[in-house]
Amino acid sequence: MEHLLRRAIRGEDDHLLDLGCGDGTWLLRALQAHDGVTAVGVDISGAGFDHVLGEAARLGLGDRLELRRQDVAEYRSVRKADLVLSVGSAYAYGGLLPTLNAAREHLAEDGMLLLGDCFWEHEPDAAVRAQQESGPQKYADLPTTVAQVVADGWTPVYGYTSTIAEWDEYEWCWTGTLAQWALDNPGHPGSDLALRMSAEHRDSWLGGYRGFLGFVVLLLRRTPAPVKA
Ligand SMILES: C[S@@+](CC[C@H](N)C(=O)[O-])C[C@H]1O[C@@H](n2cnc3c(N)ncnc32)[C@H](O)[C@@H]1O
Repeated sequence: MEHLLRRAIRGEDDHLLDLGCGDGTWLLRALQAHDGVTAVGVDISGAGFDHVLGEAARLGLGDRLELRRQDVAEYRSVRKADLVLSVGSAYAYGGLLPTLNAAREHLAEDGMLLLGDCFWEHEPDAAVRAQQESGPQKYADLPTTVAQVVADGWTPVYGYTSTIAEWDEYEWCWTGTLAQWALDNPGHPGSDLALRMSAEHRDSWLGGYRGFLGFVVLLLRRTPAPVKA
């Protein structure tokens, strides 16, 4: 994550916009590493905002970070961003291409886009594909995914493909944290549901898309129009 941000942030006073920012951790890391950078994060959930904003205040970075609880489709930027992030959030716009269009609207002239999305590392069987593509998002293999992005007018200047160990860590962390909370709070009205959700997700991952679904983060710049002869 840090090495991607290092490549993506080019000016000490860059402005960042994270569309579907989760709790805002990526932005907090960016502010910690770059003194003059400012950032806005937008997420429909708002879960974890208080914690991250508290951390930002504790570190003296509070005046450079804004986290907004809002649907990204409704967000209009006041200031164009030097770097737009959309990491694991393309479904918020209904897929890859609508996300690229939205990012374009928010980007400064020579801005960069850090786009993280899934792709099929190996061809899944029909059941696994149907499970992962039940919403508006459809995935392709990595060359096709990158070709779609390029055809939309972007040039990748860097990319990072998650390893299976990183996927495993991510999945164990979130299913495990949910299970841990349920076991620690047996009397809570939500604990049975939490335990069930954790187990269902773990099963659908281990018995389904593990090893088939990949995740790539692309650092993109707009491809200039060809110079007319
Ligand atoms: C997989 S998480 C990724 C979070 C973060 N980008 C990260 O890398 O940790 C997807 C995020 O998109 C947010 N999201 C989904 N639909 C959204 C919408 N319509 N508007 C804003 N945020 C949305 C979810 O609340 C969730 O936090």
